[in-house]
Amino acid sequence: MTYTLTTPLYYVNDKPHLGSAYTTLACDALARFQRLKGEQVVFITGCDEHGQKIQRTAEAAGQTPQAHCDGVSAQYRELWQRWQISHDRFIRTTDPRHERIVEQFFGRVEANGDIVEGRQQGWYCVACEEFKDDPHEASDPECTTHRRPLEWRDEVNLFFRLSRYQKQIETLIAQPGFIQPASRRNEVENFVKQGLRDFSISRVNLPWGIPVPGHQGHTFYVWFDALLGYITALLEDGDASDLDTAISRGWPATVHVIGKDILRFHAVYWPAMLLSAGLELPAAVFGHGFLTREGQKMGKSLGNVLDPAVMLDDWGPDAVRWYLLRDIPFGDDGDFQQQRFIDLVNNDLANTIGNLLNRTSSMARRWFSDAVPAPGSSHDPTHVLAACARQASELFLKAMDNLEFRAAAEAALGLAIQANGFLNDQAPWSRMKQGGNEEAVASDLYAVLEATRIVAQLLIPLVPDLSARILAQFPADARSGWLERLQWGGLPAAAALPEPSPVMARLEAKETA
Ligand code: MSP
Repeated sequence: MTYTLTTPLYYVNDKPHLGSAYTTLACDALARFQRLKGEQVVFITGCDEHGQKIQRTAEAAGQTPQAHCDGVSAQYRELWQRWQISHDRFIRTTDPRHERIVEQFFGRVEANGDIVEGRQQGWYCVACEEFKDDPHEASDPECTTHRRPLEWRDEVNLFFRLSRYQKQIETLIAQPGFIQPASRRNEVENFVKQGLRDFSISRVNLPWGIPVPGHQGHTFYVWFDALLGYITALLEDGDASDLDTAISRGWPATVHVIGKDILRFHAVYWPAMLLSAGLELPAAVFGHGFLTREGQKMGKSLGNVLDPAVMLDDWGPDAVRWYLLRDIPFGDDGDFQQQRFIDLVNNDLANTIGNLLNRTSSMARRWFSDAVPAPGSSHDPTHVLAACARQASELFLKAMDNLEFRAAAEAALGLAIQANGFLNDQAPWSRMKQGGNEEAVASDLYAVLEATRIVAQLLIPLVPDLSARILAQFPADARSGWLERLQWGGLPAAAALPEPSPVMARLEAKETA
């Protein structure tokens, strides 16, 4: 079974912002973790390029929609490369292969009797690309998310018969683990309870979309086309553009990771579409929270949007990844505060982890001929730090499997804190001065080095660069699998210890980010 995970496919109406980087970094940590465990992973990201919003943005910029999409999606690609995102697929919904997949999928849904013509009347938010249910009866209603006027629409569209799937969707969302975190289930349940209404899946007079086969003048509603991007993305190079082929490459998705605002599309509309086409359903949909900046909603008009490209230049990848994954419970809303960010990174990464490595390795080299000291009794799995390491690894593995990145980060950091505590209690510097304690000191330093090595192993999926810098200061590990390398006692005694150098520079406050 493949472990297929997806980020949302990002709209190309604007350059990437921290919200998109947040989901992508979290998925990257998850993908790296699953690969380390030996899973066959397909990590999908990409861009959502059709619809009225994109068409209007391109017009305003005096570009053709295609040229506009080419430009912004290239920015996404480049940004993910600079962030070292380990995605396996980057899908653009303007990819010609995608058009065939959408057509085939639609054919199955239509053959199943789930497409009907109907009149669509209602208030539409172009920024959300969504009809709003309850625009508060106002004469000039606004979108509550975008604070922009809604537009009145009245047209004949094709509808998907969502109402037929009421029972199946109710059963699906009641399944524990389908909507995650569990706290998000309620809002979807309430929506479904009100009774599912058919939704329009086509637009007339909107040239920037995929034409609906057999229905002249209609293009697909952007969400109908975009969700199918997850399936097109599975196609491998050289594959024909065929739905069954794509499905065989890794469907169903193990988890769709998305922001909470698009949960309804993923947990209700999308499963119903898949049921209609006779395809399997994703195992889980995880809706994470929203990020604010210094307590304020981020927005173009406020001019306070955090730019992930600038943040990368200012702070480097490890600091930002660590903060986002370690400080904010994944699923809850979070606030980016520069001072808190700096303090947290300096404390955790520079002090607790960086200094632990530096001082232990320096002592070991000074007193034991630049090599890993003899473990003595600390090789024993019952050693106090061995027990801490085992517990930290167990917690870490469980937390990562559940997308609890904060708990995972805390487990790794907790082990470093315990190792620091052990070092301070044993005080090898004073015992060494007293003389005659070489063996005991060697054993203690071995235990602390070994714990530090395991901390670095745990950090690989969360902060891969930092972890690589730490591991470069240890002798090479001959064990091939990651789970094996998490086992206590792997550090080879007497192997040369490279000269220590600081692994994490301290951050200073900056104006720009
Ligand atoms: N194109 C659709 C998704 C289609 S998936 C088949 C879309 N794109 S988006 O670019 O507008 O949003 C992408 C993601 O960014 C969403 O999951 C959204 O929740 C997330 N975020 C937008 N602003 C955010 C924050 N301020 N904080 C965290 N995530 C945010 O929706």
